[in-house]
Amino acid sequence: YENELTYHTHQQNGTEAEFHEAYEAAVDSVRADLGATHPLRIDGEAVETGDSFGVQSPGDFDLEIGEFAAGEAEEVEAAVDAASAAQPDWEAMEPEERTEFFTDAADLLRERKYEFAAALSLENGKNRTEAMADVDEAIDFLDFYSREFERTDGYRFDTGEPTPGQHTRNILRPYGVFGVIAPFNFPVAITMGMTAGALITGNTVVLKPASATPLVAHMYVDLLEDAGIPDGVINLVTGGGSDVGNPLVEHEDVAGVAFTGSRAVGLGIQETFSELGKRGPVIAELGGKNPVIVTDEADLDDAVEGVMKGAFSFSGQKCSATSRVYVDESLIDEFTDRLVAETEELTIGEPTAEDTFVSPLIDDSALEHYLEIAEKAREDGEVLTGGAEVEDDALPEGRYVEPTVVADIPHEHELATEEHFVPFLTVHPISDLEEGIEKSNDSEYGLCAGIFSEDESEVEQWFDEIESGMCYANRSQSATTGALVQAQPFGGWKFSGTTGKFAGGYWYLQQFMREQTQTRVE
Ligand code: NAD
Ligand code: ALA
Repeated sequence: YENELTYHTHQQNGTEAEFHEAYEAAVDSVRADLGATHPLRIDGEAVETGDSFGVQSPGDFDLEIGEFAAGEAEEVEAAVDAASAAQPDWEAMEPEERTEFFTDAADLLRERKYEFAAALSLENGKNRTEAMADVDEAIDFLDFYSREFERTDGYRFDTGEPTPGQHTRNILRPYGVFGVIAPFNFPVAITMGMTAGALITGNTVVLKPASATPLVAHMYVDLLEDAGIPDGVINLVTGGGSDVGNPLVEHEDVAGVAFTGSRAVGLGIQETFSELGKRGPVIAELGGKNPVIVTDEADLDDAVEGVMKGAFSFSGQKCSATSRVYVDESLIDEFTDRLVAETEELTIGEPTAEDTFVSPLIDDSALEHYLEIAEKAREDGEVLTGGAEVEDDALPEGRYVEPTVVADIPHEHELATEEHFVPFLTVHPISDLEEGIEKSNDSEYGLCAGIFSEDESEVEQWFDEIESGMCYANRSQSATTGALVQAQPFGGWKFSGTTGKFAGGYWYLQQFMREQTQTRVE
């Protein structure tokens, strides 16, 4: 297969000035429309419920994003019924007939990309560059999965005539109805990627977005409806994790679940499937505790920049965030001094402001967790910078915290072993590469890892021995975050994922399908 990289939409955002102008205009127009009430979307209809929840912007509590219907088991039941009824006709379509909805949706998203990026900054707090990257990745998912499905003729292979008169086909078919449960941190790319994966392959979907990011999920359903998707194929039920998530996972007609989120919730879904004897897949992409090694052969400029950006972009709220760094003891003082100095220069700001790098935390529990672990770090180690809320009267009321660098924490300490999902990095000395690899691998997670070394043999040894799905050497743009669809399929080993197949890669779609061999005697 010709591995042409033709989809990377981020290369098409015009000049920097055009980007900023278009984004700022979109922020004004999206802000003007905020605060509406949003019902559920079932079978192409708006469905009201007795209860609702409000969402405020994490960067400005005065900004009401909207009021969203809170679904429960009854609405999940209706949504699954609608998805079940729509599924046979949806599956019966030819591959190109189905993918056209998604390539059309990708075209519409290209037209609406600034509107999506602006909504994302306001709803989940991403700065403008990160927000646009999230939207661009979504466009790439829609395009790439459509093309892959067409390229493989919907995974249908004529296997010929094994014995005279027996004509055989080996094909993949959808499971039926998928529950798609999405996280708050990439609510455009990951939500669209998982949903498109399920739908393009002929399943129908009940989508449950994270409670913090229901607005962009509505915008996605608008996009698919505007692309002409039939009623019942995609159904949106907003609401709480257990109120909506549990009945969705447990429903007997939900054959499979695509989930991205925390390890605890993902493994809980797997357990439920197993307890209920469900045979379909739980495609779960989970957390990370992403290590970076800086050897004595490293370029320190690259290492400092890469680690800082990997740890603190989107305030560390990425599964791929760099969260522990193992530095050769001969360099650790210089590395740490420079990392701290440069971290203190980062701009913490309102998400839509042009120069913001570090944006606010998503919710109160993230803020409480940040303050708790900062306190623990002061007790059990040394906080070199950060560890507190930002005091700045010029900022709106929001959850602004300082990026935090901590030393003198034992490698086995919970601060260095658990995923915290806030801007928090521990720095540890190592005596050589072997110790760095051993400590990097001493984790239940295996999502992303990085190394800084100018010695090619060290990098090759590390590629061979590191236990991680995503392995990045000498990446100053970010040590561990930011993968491009198709070029860098994204996923994890160990407790960072359940199926071993990566989002944005060539094997992703097959997970949503089951195999059938059809033999006809003539
Ligand atoms: P989360 O696990 O708290 O929530 C994810 C989704 O699950 C949300 O929609 C939530 O409402 C829902 N949910 C909560 N309880 C549920 C239940 N009992 N049953 C069913 N659904 C339930 O995660 P989050 O805070 O939204 O996202 C952060 C987590 O996601 C981090 O652990 C991060 O590492 C992970 N993540 C992983 C990847 C990846 O590709 N590996 C990408 C992004 C985020
Ligand atoms: N794909 C996202 C990243 O690489 C999660 O950071």
